[in-house]
Amino acid sequence: MSYEIALIPGDGIGQTVVDASRPLLDAAADREDVSLEYTEFDWGSERYLEQGAMMPDDGVDQLRGHDAILLGAVGHPEIPDHVTLRGLMLPIRKRLNQQICKRPSFLYEGVESPLRGYAGGDIDLVVFRENTEGEYADVGGREHQGFDHELAVQSAVFTREGTETVVRAAFEAAKERDGKLTNVTKSNAQAYGMVLWDEVVEELSEEYPSVEVERLLVDAAAMDFIRRPETFDVVVASNLFGDILTDVGAIIAGSMGLAPSANLCVDGDAPSMFEPVHGSAPDIVGEGIANPLATVLSGAMLFDDIGESAVGDRLRRVVRTQLADPDAPRTPDLGGDSGTEAVVADLRNRLGE
Ligand code: NAD
Ligand code: IPM
Ligand code: MN
Repeated sequence: MSYEIALIPGDGIGQTVVDASRPLLDAAADREDVSLEYTEFDWGSERYLEQGAMMPDDGVDQLRGHDAILLGAVGHPEIPDHVTLRGLMLPIRKRLNQQICKRPSFLYEGVESPLRGYAGGDIDLVVFRENTEGEYADVGGREHQGFDHELAVQSAVFTREGTETVVRAAFEAAKERDGKLTNVTKSNAQAYGMVLWDEVVEELSEEYPSVEVERLLVDAAAMDFIRRPETFDVVVASNLFGDILTDVGAIIAGSMGLAPSANLCVDGDAPSMFEPVHGSAPDIVGEGIANPLATVLSGAMLFDDIGESAVGDRLRRVVRTQLADPDAPRTPDLGGDSGTEAVVADLRNRLGE
């Protein structure tokens, strides 16, 4: 089978990790008689600096016909982040109705967690993050700029439909996994949207009697990701809370450079988008040391989504064996001294027939 993939390397290390991972994804696909046809889009901050826009006006529509999208990262130190992100990644998530962001956090054997006493497999959780509304709704405004009475309004938006979509996906995942769902909100302080959210969780829980539901406030959840990460199975949270918790989830499992993510369009009308959790990492850009594994694992999620999970399994297998091998190359974020290319070359050698 052949699939049409939209490739958006984007900015900073996004370009490094996508360029490096692409031949590996092809090689893994080839082993299962799958091929990927890429359309590469040079959208991002360089385009913004030259042409004043991150992508063309019809950019999102150009993506629609593809089977999936692979994105590197977006963000440039010389351009305000709200300009770059609102010009590229956020409109894709929203306008392609990618309502669910799925972010697994798994501590691989051979990877050291900054948490004392955790070994391979001890951390194995997945966050389902609402992805098109909540605190990221583009609703608000500013007035009286430059005056003492200047004001800014930023509204969070919670719809029953959007909340139900992500909560149901989280329940389904919990049913298939260890049967536990942690619902993370802040309904002690956010009495409208978050209370609606809690009610939706309560209502849907009736349909999933085999799933145990735990309820945590987000501040306590952040603490418990550190104190007792082994007790989490599936976590469901709003857009902003899911964003914050998944950086914590990434680092307790060893590195930002290991954390993959999937932005899923569940109504089937538009492609889903796969991207590492990390950003463009300006502090290491150009050094050739960005860890490509988060992108490779995002690629594995892409293959699962297009119905080629045998390719996804192959990729996860080589990542697992590489990380478990103390002699394998690893990037500095994992305590090694190898570069991006050496890690990918080693993975290719491990692919087998
Ligand atoms: P970041 O994720 O880019 O970097 C945080 C830290 O993690 C840095 O020290 C970085 O060197 C390290 N790191 C990240 N990915 C790594 C990898 N693959 N290998 C090794 N080390 C890695 O977060 P930030 O510094 O807060 O943001 C930088 C820029 O990226 C900002 O413009 C921000 O808005 C943007 N951003 C974009 C996305 C995205 O496109 N999905 C996500 C997060 C941040
Ligand atoms: C992520 C990023 C984005 C988010 C930013 C860059 C808008 O942090 O994908 O985790 O918060 O969704
Ligand atoms: Mn983030």
